[in-house]
Amino acid sequence: MPRINEAFLNLQASYLFAEVKRRSQAYREAHPDARLIDLGIGDVTLPLPPAVVRALEVAVGEQASAETLKGYGPYIGYEFLRGEIAAHDFGARDVKLGADEIFVSDGGKSDAANIQELFAQDSVVALMDPAYPVYADANVMAGRSRPADSTGRYADFVYLPCTAENDFQPALPDRHVDLIYLCYPNNPTGAVMTRGALGRWVDYARAHEAVIVYDAAYEAYIRDSDIPHSIYEIEGAREVAIESRSFSKSAGFTGLRMAYTVVPREAQGRTADGRAVSLNQLWLRRQSTKSNGPPYVIQRAAAAVYTPEGQQQVRALIDHYMENARIIRAGLEAAGLTVYGGRNAPYIWIRTPAGVSSWDFFDRLLAEAQVIGVPGSGFGPSGEGYFRVTAFGSRAQSAEAVERIAARLRG
Ligand code: MLT
Repeated sequence: MPRINEAFLNLQASYLFAEVKRRSQAYREAHPDARLIDLGIGDVTLPLPPAVVRALEVAVGEQASAETLKGYGPYIGYEFLRGEIAAHDFGARDVKLGADEIFVSDGGKSDAANIQELFAQDSVVALMDPAYPVYADANVMAGRSRPADSTGRYADFVYLPCTAENDFQPALPDRHVDLIYLCYPNNPTGAVMTRGALGRWVDYARAHEAVIVYDAAYEAYIRDSDIPHSIYEIEGAREVAIESRSFSKSAGFTGLRMAYTVVPREAQGRTADGRAVSLNQLWLRRQSTKSNGPPYVIQRAAAAVYTPEGQQQVRALIDHYMENARIIRAGLEAAGLTVYGGRNAPYIWIRTPAGVSSWDFFDRLLAEAQVIGVPGSGFGPSGEGYFRVTAFGSRAQSAEAVERIAARLRG
């Protein structure tokens, strides 16, 4: 028998969303007549924008003829898409990026999990707490931490608590770290970070020769005009930040799969003997070895997002989900719950009633309201006492879930 990568044994029992699914499925099987409302994993429910569907159809048609067939594409994505990304997602906000700094991939989840491969195994990792579990899990698999303690805190990570007490804004680390994962608008708390605060993180990274992995998957949900959409709006960020975006939550691509990561030319790491190495070139080498890029038809579909009709249709999707967020937030507040997020993000972060743990609240809502959410503690120890629901359900489901939760609280 070959020896296994024992770092996997340091992981907590199961992936958060798999555990939520397992418990919900068990309930479903035991109660086949129950009408469950799933506001758990942030999966979209509205159909793809018509401009995207049309582009898919045309691209599939191209594959039907030898003259227009597309085989292997560029490892990092077609230039027709990377050019649109540079112009629309960044150029429109005065951020200049070259197409060679944009790496198209099959999902924000894979990029979030894979980017750590560029860094040494003894890199010190700082994580917002709570956070999307992929950042921690991928680094544990890579051998960067021993197992978690009884509070769920991995032994070798630096945790940056984000709770109501600090307005969900992490304090700068009090020790040296090499890799910092920041996510704004935040999953799961729905918080955003001001330009000034983000500037302090960029300054920290520059002073400590750290790299920020900036997950901006929910950027399209920002409503406040003074909140930065990209970390590259901050001076000096090109040297110290890698940014990822996703088409999943903005354009409904959770099933199609499409995302990208920006690795600026100036971003550098170093060898053990102190030689500077381009992270852009390392990521290019990694991606060209391990990926052939997302399918051509999906890249064509993504490019359609940037047409005038695509932009207008995507805006309508986001407006729809943000109205769900408003309904959920207002309804839960009226029911007496303390609620955060949902203003610049599609997640609503609920304080559980006094003395009720995150998983207990999950079990109670499942059993008594047949509503599925995600226990805050699953995102990290500082998520204990919180519970996340998504605004990605249908309008009717969002409204009914609020009714049911309110009725359950009235008792
Ligand atoms: C979430 O619910 O946090 C995300 O949808 C999960 C994901 O994107 O993998």
